[in-house]
Amino acid sequence: MNHEQISRIYDAHYNPTLALLFDMAKCPVESRSHGTRVYDDRGQEFLDFACGYGVFSIGHTNPRVQAVMLRQLDKLATAPQLAIHEAAAELSTKLGKLLPGDLKRLFLCGSGSEAVEIALRIASLRNPKRTRFVAVHHGFHGKTVGAMGVTGQDYLRKPFEPIWADVRFVPYGDVGAMKEAIGDGAAAVLLEPVLGGGFITTPPRGYLAEVREMCSRTGTVFVCDEVQTGFGRTGKMFAFQHDDIVPDVLILSKGFTGGHVSMAAAVVRDSIANEVAELSAADPLLYMSDTGGSPLACAVASEALSVILDEGLVQRAAEIGPYLQQRLAQASRAYPKLGLGAPGIGLMTGIQLRNNMVENAVWLQMLKRRVVTGLSTNPMTPRPVMRFFPPLIVTREEIDRAGDALDDSLKELDRVPGLALDLANQAAKVQFHLPKPLLRGILKSLS
Ligand SMILES: Cc1ncc(COP(=O)(O)O)c(C=O)c1O
Repeated sequence: MNHEQISRIYDAHYNPTLALLFDMAKCPVESRSHGTRVYDDRGQEFLDFACGYGVFSIGHTNPRVQAVMLRQLDKLATAPQLAIHEAAAELSTKLGKLLPGDLKRLFLCGSGSEAVEIALRIASLRNPKRTRFVAVHHGFHGKTVGAMGVTGQDYLRKPFEPIWADVRFVPYGDVGAMKEAIGDGAAAVLLEPVLGGGFITTPPRGYLAEVREMCSRTGTVFVCDEVQTGFGRTGKMFAFQHDDIVPDVLILSKGFTGGHVSMAAAVVRDSIANEVAELSAADPLLYMSDTGGSPLACAVASEALSVILDEGLVQRAAEIGPYLQQRLAQASRAYPKLGLGAPGIGLMTGIQLRNNMVENAVWLQMLKRRVVTGLSTNPMTPRPVMRFFPPLIVTREEIDRAGDALDDSLKELDRVPGLALDLANQAAKVQFHLPKPLLRGILKSLS
């Protein structure tokens, strides 16, 4: 099938909005990928600096992981819920060695949202009389209904409300607001240890420790959502380790298998898991699903974890991340009409831009230069951070290539007057309701 045929089928049967964007941006049809590169159906090579916002952390189609995957496929790919298998035992042992304190109990599933659901259920069972959850503005925890209910991006959540009886959203990093929202105890607090979703905000030093203390004092379950930050992205294996705390529940997904198979987990402190087991009559199937935590996914996750450890990728993110951030900051300073800084930590970074339309335009310009970056995908962010999340195996030369592409992209866009960029942004606010030819015209003039 060619570009046009695929797009037509997407438009008719699968995802018309994606088809429209794909058409307008002339996005590549991804047909294969390896390491830090993806290739389109015409064989053109792109440097992947979006990496599924952290999914392909060890690089695409890692040969060690692929070999384990094939062996496991041959042996035992899936098993019924009531079976036990070696792959899960090995994974829990390996992960357990990396996790501090009694953060040891694994609840395996297929997606980050599902893992958040497990956390919400455990918190509800732990504190059956408490109905309040505390989360942060602009936080993201997934698109299943319960997870959406604690997601602080209003445009996603509001159409489905009411979901939970009482959710308090507080500004990220604000200790006073958090204290007030927790009061004398909530069911749970949910936080990303670095706020993703269009911001990439690293919290003030000590913030996580303060939240930890408030949760311990009031018996509130502290859930750290490390779907984006986990497995080395921020320069520590888990981002909560920057603040030297231990959460009650850790949510893991994206980089778990390096994007080779779907896999996620809620990792729960033993003490809490035991209390909840008593309350829920310890039904062994209560948190399980047919395919979550399959032998295949477990074996692949174990090997991906070995790759991270053997290749020193956590250390690598800590060492090379600042160089990427420095290149982004330089580019931002050189074009102050467009760039507003380069926040982040480790290889979880990006460039903050003047508005959403500028972000779209820079993204298109980068694509033209064969570098894929991550759109912030949060239209509520007036000054979005376009994400640069390369695989952790990224080299200095590749960072330079992406940095040069960014310099050139900003240089080209800098010629457009600021007022035109702001007017285009106003029009794009109603992006998907604009007549297609008008939207096409705006994007074409900016790309
Ligand atoms: C911080 C965070 N939590 C939860 C999720 C949901 O994960 P999934 O898409 O696997 O359901 C995501 C997905 O991007 C995420 O970034």
